Amino acid sequence: MPGERLDVLEVLRRTERYFAEAGIESARLDAEVLLAHVLGVERIRLYTGHDRPLSAAELSRYRALVRRRAAREPVAYLTGVKEFHSLSLKVTPDVLVPRPETEHLVDLAVELSRGLEEPRLLDIGTGSGCIAVAWAVEVKEGRFTATDVSAAALEVARENAERHGVADRGEFLEGDLHHPVRSRAPFDLVVSNPPYVAPGEVTDPECRREPEAAVFAGEDPARFYERLFRGALEVTAPGGHVLVELPGGREEEIASLLPGGWVLERIVRDYHRLPRVLAARRRPDPAPPSAGQAEPGARS
Ligand SMILES: C[S@@+](CC[C@H](N)C(=O)[O-])C[C@H]1O[C@@H](n2cnc3c(N)ncnc32)[C@H](O)[C@@H]1O
Repeated sequence: MPGERLDVLEVLRRTERYFAEAGIESARLDAEVLLAHVLGVERIRLYTGHDRPLSAAELSRYRALVRRRAAREPVAYLTGVKEFHSLSLKVTPDVLVPRPETEHLVDLAVELSRGLEEPRLLDIGTGSGCIAVAWAVEVKEGRFTATDVSAAALEVARENAERHGVADRGEFLEGDLHHPVRSRAPFDLVVSNPPYVAPGEVTDPECRREPEAAVFAGEDPARFYERLFRGALEVTAPGGHVLVELPGGREEEIASLLPGGWVLERIVRDYHRLPRVLAARRRPDPAPPSAGQAEPGARS
């Protein structure tokens, strides 16, 4: 109401109710995150300063964001940032909002890099760069290549790498799957969180605000995994790994798509106990024939 004096607590109360009526599950949290963003403070400050009155300008900026959130724009697109693996990442509508489930993939990639000298990682479909950047922050001597079909996403990924001081150990290439990196092979690790929603599959309204290429994999998401596994085989060092995020509950189907050159090594479950990450190891190349030993099929 014009001229009305509203303090932090009252604004939060009203917004929480409004969001809940709009069907937003995280109504209170979202109200707080957006208000903290508008006031330029940490969330905890909303409670220590709960009776602080909001100025007309603050209220007007907050209301504009609240309306957009009620229309189901993801919070991260409104604030421009998302916390991932303890890093604050830049996020725009050009990239998928990084999900906490994907942190399991980063953890496993870090674990598998231990003991390797200057490990090399390829992140296919890097989006915000969350996986590659979080990995490079942990693996100090590691180098990475990040690819995506979206030039706009690669720009965001590069900014995130710069923000966290790892850009000098990374490169960003536009193109389909492993195709832009053939000349840079072999990699020790190939990682990907592929678009895995099938057309017509029910998603929450926020997903519909995310880039189509980041969410939907065309007619059949299984085909994407199949191409990914085949391509990864071409660019992974013998004994190296491929790690992919899984649509929860389809681990057997996806594992069955691994071509012969891969050996399934591990399935990691997420915080909800759903199978979430698949890791496979590339079989070592067959030993070259020793001197004097004829290759099978060779003419004598
Ligand atoms: C599910 S998002 C994952 C983004 C990010 N890695 C994450 O975990 O938040 C999939 C990403 O793959 C990209 N992508 C889709 N098709 C691709 C393809 N054929 N080759 C390379 N990247 C692709 C999309 O643009 C999108 O950024």
